[in-house]
Amino acid sequence: MSAFLSHVDQQLAALKAKKLWRQRAISRPLPNALIERNGQVLLNFAGNDYLGLSQHPSLQKLEPQSVAGATASPLICGHHPLAHALEQELAQWSGFEESRLFVSGYQASLGVIPALVGPGDTILCDRLNHASLIDASRLSGARLRVYPHRDMERLDDLLSRPSTGFKLVISDSLFSMDGTLAPVDQLLDLCERHDALLYLDDAHGLGVLGENGRGAPECFLLSPAKRQRLVYLGTFGKAAGQGGAFVACSHALADWFTQSARSYVYSTGLAPAHCAALRTCLHLIKQAQPQRSLLNEHIQTLQTLGQDLPWGLVPSDTPIQNLLIGEIEPTLRLSELLLEQGIWAPAIRPPTVPRHQARLRLSLSAAHKRQDIEKLAQALHEAGHSLR
Ligand SMILES: Cc1ncc(COP(=O)(O)O)c(C=O)c1O
Repeated sequence: MSAFLSHVDQQLAALKAKKLWRQRAISRPLPNALIERNGQVLLNFAGNDYLGLSQHPSLQKLEPQSVAGATASPLICGHHPLAHALEQELAQWSGFEESRLFVSGYQASLGVIPALVGPGDTILCDRLNHASLIDASRLSGARLRVYPHRDMERLDDLLSRPSTGFKLVISDSLFSMDGTLAPVDQLLDLCERHDALLYLDDAHGLGVLGENGRGAPECFLLSPAKRQRLVYLGTFGKAAGQGGAFVACSHALADWFTQSARSYVYSTGLAPAHCAALRTCLHLIKQAQPQRSLLNEHIQTLQTLGQDLPWGLVPSDTPIQNLLIGEIEPTLRLSELLLEQGIWAPAIRPPTVPRHQARLRLSLSAAHKRQDIEKLAQALHEAGHSLR
């Protein structure tokens, strides 16, 4: 066997020994917050389908003419009229001058962040930023400085240090693993004071935050002047129930990304069928006020019913609710006990979260019913007794 293959075997064996090996299950989302997983139908608390739109009947009725693929970069001939219309609708809805579509949020950040900064510039990242933001920052070649989670004093201090190039602050809006919110208004104040730009990843905020689901910029009532310093990432893999992403910004920056965001320039445009589905999703998100209210009720119900569990719920008023367990083995065991009750809530382990912070990440959706939340709370209480 080649040295490389035996090295891979050793690495896999080491991961298994540490209970850090990950495996996929064949999974198919079903209506009513259910999921079929390796043939078993379970109540799903693992997805990010916050508004329950992924199974909406209007998505089954898409026009057959929109099914063809894109087959080229948007710069060659892959910028379909449906993509163009979607970009314009997204820019208008999110309150920016323009937008650009990407096949995923990960790809958007890998293209846009290195287009904004490079060697000689400085990136300032929240410690809990999503992996895609960290990878994109490294790819850019800019100096990377990390500030403690939501610590604005420390960020101010780092931004005050003398530096030559441009400064880019990067943050999740709603942090994917802790469910906490970034102080977006304070981030923008600091950017203004230190002549920096903010790249805000609103993957989990879009559709959920703000009175009309327009995400963090609406939730923080950001004025058009404030948005001048903001490059906004929205993704469609969570509340929009699909997949894909867009970056919204000023005309000039959108034009710049068309020239220099390599994952945009050198990748096939979004398939027209996908664009058609996303236009429908955008329409549904605009009308999803009842789902947002129901989601908030579910959050409160879980917080109330989860009060005296043996493990603390990380404080969060968002659909991402975490039970912090700490070590890997009991977290895996808890997830297994829930599975026996027909509930899918996977253990989240390092390196996705820091060491000794293994947890159950419970993701709530408007597709859940109150009884589903009650069933979850009941199962957690029972598991708490049997693990004691
Ligand atoms: C905060 C955050 N940003 C970005 C991404 C990546 O988005 P996508 O799944 O569209 O690549 C994710 C998704 O998993 C995420 O949670």
